Amino acid sequence: MATSSAPIVVGIDVGTTKVCTLIAEITDDDQCEVIGVGIAPSRGLKKGAVVNTEDVIDAIGASLERAEKQSGFDIVSAYVGISGAHIQTQSSPGVVAVRHADRQITEDDVDRALEAARAISLPSDREIVHAVARNFVIDGQDGIKNPAGMIGHRIEVHTTIVSGATTSVSNLERCVQRAGIELKSLVLQPLAAGLAVLTEAERDLGVAVIDIGGGTTDVAVFMEGALTYAASIPVGGQHVTNDITVGLRAQFATAEELKVRYGCAMPEMVPEDRVVDVAAFDGGSDGTEVSLREVSEIIEPRMVELFELVQEKLALAGHRDGLPAGIVLCGGTAQLGGLRRLASDMFRTPVRIGTPTGVYGLTDQIMTPAFATSVGLLKFGLEEGVEPVSGPRVPALSGIGSALSGWLKNLLP
Ligand SMILES: Nc1ncnc2c1ncn2[C@@H]1O[C@H](COP(=O)(O)OP(=O)(O)OP(=O)(O)O)[C@@H](O)[C@H]1O
Ligand SMILES: [Mg+2]
Repeated sequence: MATSSAPIVVGIDVGTTKVCTLIAEITDDDQCEVIGVGIAPSRGLKKGAVVNTEDVIDAIGASLERAEKQSGFDIVSAYVGISGAHIQTQSSPGVVAVRHADRQITEDDVDRALEAARAISLPSDREIVHAVARNFVIDGQDGIKNPAGMIGHRIEVHTTIVSGATTSVSNLERCVQRAGIELKSLVLQPLAAGLAVLTEAERDLGVAVIDIGGGTTDVAVFMEGALTYAASIPVGGQHVTNDITVGLRAQFATAEELKVRYGCAMPEMVPEDRVVDVAAFDGGSDGTEVSLREVSEIIEPRMVELFELVQEKLALAGHRDGLPAGIVLCGGTAQLGGLRRLASDMFRTPVRIGTPTGVYGLTDQIMTPAFATSVGLLKFGLEEGVEPVSGPRVPALSGIGSALSGWLKNLLP
């Protein structure tokens, strides 16, 4: 296997429809250069959670193999995305005293404050996935993002605790380990997606990212630069395809192709007389003409229902009236025709489609909304301050962790 003088970061997005492994080299100027992409069809997941371990291990293995072959690297460890309806968030404060005589706050003090915030009572069947630092208060002074190096007596941190069901977390961890990979950290999928598609200004102002995948729709809210809320709804693009199968009595492959090529979430955008012959599709043997307006009329109620569920989640998070920077849609289903317009009509807020940015190299396949989470995992790894994770002779990393600032540095795995 090849070796590199640069450190490597690896992200594995285990989605309901695809598993995507990305391998990136971290360049001297702290950028991710993608050198391996492995996309494999996913099996063994339902609504974002593992239901068949062997199938998931096989899918991860196939995706790893492709990425390894392309990059020439042997993957040792990776950041892995987690999602599912079991994910919950809550706020938690942590307070500690600064003990040094000079009162200068160190990274250790910050870590102790975060540790204190993690000391919450969770039901025995749940565990913490992240403690995200939102804001620090030092001796009463609010709004501090990175207190290390400041002088103070008392550190107070306000965090977003992301927790998941222990069974779901353990099942995913087990699949990754059995695929031969050491888990660096589980990363909440919409947190990763937010890193890939949101601008810093959006995250500061307040924004919701909605990742509409195959089996799930993940919602994450960012305010003042940090994650403040996340939830997962067990509805995605596969439900739309299923609806078309039932509505038109078509095969799944035909319905999927109809949706991807011609689907529209707003019937009024489709001319009433437009038809396509599904016999021309791969796997489509029905040999009938289908009205695209009719297809759209099948899609619309499912997407309206989904956005109503998202609205309920946002209302629960205290954002009934929307967020200042609006909504960013990503995930494969974000590419559905008319979806942006439907969303802006329903949420009455600016809506844009989010495509991942900020990574270089072999990006042809991955710069689409479906790969927001995959790209975000690389960015998470980069910002957390990676150690060498791949290749037998990769030299130790220096400098990246210390060069980083910002809220991500304060995430604990
Ligand atoms: N152009 C398109 N128009 C509409 N839907 C599309 C398009 N391209 C892909 N999709 C849909 O996107 C979905 C897959 O999205 P994505 O790759 O984000 O899912 P995933 O990450 O595997 O799943 P999840 O995040 O739910 O676990 C599929 O249902 C697919 O039909
Ligand atoms: Mg996904």
